[in-house]
Amino acid sequence: MSDLRAAIGKLRKSSQLIEIDEDMSSDLEISYFTNGVQMKGGPALLFKMVDGRPTRLLMNVFGSAERVELLLGRSIGEIAAGMEKLLGVVERRPGLADGLRLFGDMRSMAVNERGGGPVKESYGDITLDDLPILRTWPGDAGKFITMPVVITRDPEDGTYNLGTYRMQVFDRETTAMHWQTQKGGAIHLRKAAKLGRELEVAVVLGAPPAVTFSSISPLPAGMDKLAFAGYVAGKGIDVVNGDTVGLHYPSDAEMVLEGYVDPRETRVEGPFGDHTGYYSEPDLYPVFHIRRLAHRRDYIYQATVVGKLWNEDVHISRAIERIFLPGIRFLIPEVVDVFLPEEGLFNDICFVSIRKLYPGQGRKVGMAILSSGQMMFTKYVVVVDDDIDVRDRKQVLWAVATRTDPYRDVEIIRSSVADSLDHASMNPDVGGKMIIDATVKGKEEGYTRAWPKGIKFELDSLMKERLKKYGY
Ligand SMILES: Cc1cc2nc3c(=O)[nH]c(=O)nc-3n(C[C@H](O)[C@H](O)[C@H](O)COP(=O)(O)O)c2cc1C
Repeated sequence: MSDLRAAIGKLRKSSQLIEIDEDMSSDLEISYFTNGVQMKGGPALLFKMVDGRPTRLLMNVFGSAERVELLLGRSIGEIAAGMEKLLGVVERRPGLADGLRLFGDMRSMAVNERGGGPVKESYGDITLDDLPILRTWPGDAGKFITMPVVITRDPEDGTYNLGTYRMQVFDRETTAMHWQTQKGGAIHLRKAAKLGRELEVAVVLGAPPAVTFSSISPLPAGMDKLAFAGYVAGKGIDVVNGDTVGLHYPSDAEMVLEGYVDPRETRVEGPFGDHTGYYSEPDLYPVFHIRRLAHRRDYIYQATVVGKLWNEDVHISRAIERIFLPGIRFLIPEVVDVFLPEEGLFNDICFVSIRKLYPGQGRKVGMAILSSGQMMFTKYVVVVDDDIDVRDRKQVLWAVATRTDPYRDVEIIRSSVADSLDHASMNPDVGGKMIIDATVKGKEEGYTRAWPKGIKFELDSLMKERLKKYGY
């Protein structure tokens, strides 16, 4: 699997990296600079001098659609098509070609245990104080690790989870662990609490890009995200066992913090300038204790600026939306396409088009979307027919304007799951939902008149040529 330093090589080769020797401060200066670059769709950044000390701090790695593909080593279209085929095999009787492809897919999902690896080259010589960890926004409570891969195991069945959760640095041995209440790490901790145990945790910093991508991806609980990272990159991943924790982690990562979280302990975390464009309020979160920090001798520290649009995670989220569409279609077969607008922070607003075959199907799909994986965080779902391109906001708004009666076609669900970051919801983690059924209605759905005929020219063959002649 391609590691972070191989990624730097690729970025250099394709002129998508600026290397900065000028000394900048980890306190706000670097985040200001990076934000300025990422808002304009600029390149990845490698800071080599931070707070007067030589270091290597890598930022804005996934800051464009092109770079996401470059770093994963495959096009998003190709990965999504592979997912479609993989799920398609389950739907129909597989043939020999399917079998051969499945064999290739399975090989790429291998997680290979190795006796050692570069991530364990050094230990004992540095602490968190030596890393260029950033304070991003003026009102932030302190320094935050923003691009970690947090690895835990389910205390009941031993399955692994990876998640990217920010970590506020309290001191050189302890940090906060901001896993939100519905996320994998938080669920593992609740299970550990029930068993009266601490939860062992490995935090990988500077993971291979496919592992970071997989960690952020909304996989169903219990599915191995290391295997998914291999699938995405088309090559199995090498792991090494922890020394002080019963967990394995990528052997070619830049750094790992082995440690634990005690379910009985919490501490105030935040405020933190979040991707909502607001500070998330201080709240109680679990505390991560570091037992051992291992790293490559010449380690690279990776971070991101979480903030208002257009930040790095916009490009990661768009790729995730494309790759997971086949999974949504598998669960809700009438779905044609799904679009999560950036302005809705990918979490809050969902446009979905369907092939409608029976009355009530628009609402049914709306409810199914609100019940599918991390789509449970969606606040507004707009369901349209398949003649509408959900990627075109104008078409979606036209469908809302011409195919809905608010009284008949809007369903409000009073209370369901809300994203912990949603400060506007009625209560923390609990809030309302709205489904707008903007599909064409029939009489069973309360529309008793005849639906009008849509306007359309029928002179295509003659007039298209004429238009072309005049340059249109
Ligand atoms: C830069 C970045 C920071 C994130 N920070 C958090 C966080 O602090 N807490 C959280 O619960 N999710 C955070 N997420 C989202 C999770 O990584 C994402 O929901 C992931 O799918 C969680 O995986 P899980 O459901 O397996 O736990 C962040 C995502 C990105 C891209």
